[in-house]
Amino acid sequence: MTERWSPDSWRGLPIRQVPGYADEGALARVEQTLQRFPPLVFAGEARRLKERLAAVAAGKAFLLQGGDCAESFAEFHPNNIRDMFKVLLQMAVVLTFGAACPVVKVGRLAGQFAKPRSSDTETQNGHTLPSYRGDIINSLEFDAAAREPDPQRMVQAYSQSAATLNLLRAFAQGGYADLHRVHAWNQDFVADSPQGERYRALADRLAETLDFMAACGLNSDTTPQIRETEFYTSHEALFLSYEEALTRVDSTTGDWYDCSAHLVWLGDRTRQVDGAHAEFLRGIKNPIGMKCGPTLEPDDLLRLIDRLNPENEPGRLTLITRMGSDKVEARLPYLIRAVQREGREVVWCCDPMHGNTVTSSNGFKTRSFDRILDELHAAFAIHGAEGSYGGGVHFELTGQNVTECIGGSQAISEASLADRYLTHCDPRLNATQALELAFEIAEALKRSRQSNGARNTDRLTAAL
Ligand code: PEP
Ligand code: CO
Repeated sequence: MTERWSPDSWRGLPIRQVPGYADEGALARVEQTLQRFPPLVFAGEARRLKERLAAVAAGKAFLLQGGDCAESFAEFHPNNIRDMFKVLLQMAVVLTFGAACPVVKVGRLAGQFAKPRSSDTETQNGHTLPSYRGDIINSLEFDAAAREPDPQRMVQAYSQSAATLNLLRAFAQGGYADLHRVHAWNQDFVADSPQGERYRALADRLAETLDFMAACGLNSDTTPQIRETEFYTSHEALFLSYEEALTRVDSTTGDWYDCSAHLVWLGDRTRQVDGAHAEFLRGIKNPIGMKCGPTLEPDDLLRLIDRLNPENEPGRLTLITRMGSDKVEARLPYLIRAVQREGREVVWCCDPMHGNTVTSSNGFKTRSFDRILDELHAAFAIHGAEGSYGGGVHFELTGQNVTECIGGSQAISEASLADRYLTHCDPRLNATQALELAFEIAEALKRSRQSNGARNTDRLTAAL
């Protein structure tokens, strides 16, 4: 393998999950068009996210990453973006205030369009067509023309990402995220649930704290942290034609950044050490993620870390573990021990969604709230036992009141999955379920910080 890197050095290497375009020339023309379009994020923002993630790696902050499994052209609407932003803000407030820990907020949106598939084809009623690969590639309808990859979709994905990001920036900095509005982020259908009430109680306490701070002279005018929030975007770097086209030299440092998002990650199906996706990711300077599923062996993990973060830069690499609640105890400790033995700096983030996908008896792809929670609790407990820091969570969720995951306090049953099953790919938590999880995580974080505090006090006492 050549050690020289360029945005196109992945081409010609073994690659998985590539769509077959009938007209390669048309694809190349769209790539050239995108190369002339403005970057969606600025390299300086990606560097700041890397600094924030370095604080997570050091145990001083917590990462909250979440959003759609797959964004779609059909569900593109300002209200959907707003509601997604609201639920992420609610979760962040619960974590920040509940666990007294700064939260780094990273959306899985404004670019999350390409999907890896377990099979290249799909068969329905004896008829076989190419699989749906996300709206940036083809269309979900089961129809030969719809399933044909169309390069023009890349332009639409770019423009939807730009508009989404524009609204998110406006919300984050324009007053929508002001902590004085904490009650307004509770949506009606959430407010009626036990979580909604618990949230209101927390918001009341926060409002009192803000009044106290205002009396001390700290308010939205004097303290931008009250008025604004930092919000970052991320997606899987799966469709490399698109990622390459948005990869640019940063004029302030001369380094390459993938300017399609602040953070991009390597998926569990495309993490071959000598493959095209790892090659592309090693050369960009963004903070990057890597999904770690149950088939990942510790030696391969270390090889991938060598390739992706050879300088052991804190904040550069986030390991997103997604083992499944039945495998996490058997697999995660070995990965943690390998990383610790070699002294590698990583952020450990738990994705309790992707190892827990099942098909319901009535044919829906779903996930059980209890198994999601089990994997989260198990991951935190394992990190506690191994002396590592479980520093983040990664969720597929939506601000809508969907019925895609079973369980939670609303007790969504298999029979009610059909009511509002809207996802284009994997089942998402609805806003109530997401908030319920945020409270659980805040409690777990508080406990682990207290026991770490106690451990540190013990050490101090022993040393005296
Ligand atoms: C995803 O995050 O949607 C995904 C496909 O995950 P994984 O690579 O972990 O299977
Ligand atoms: Co998914």
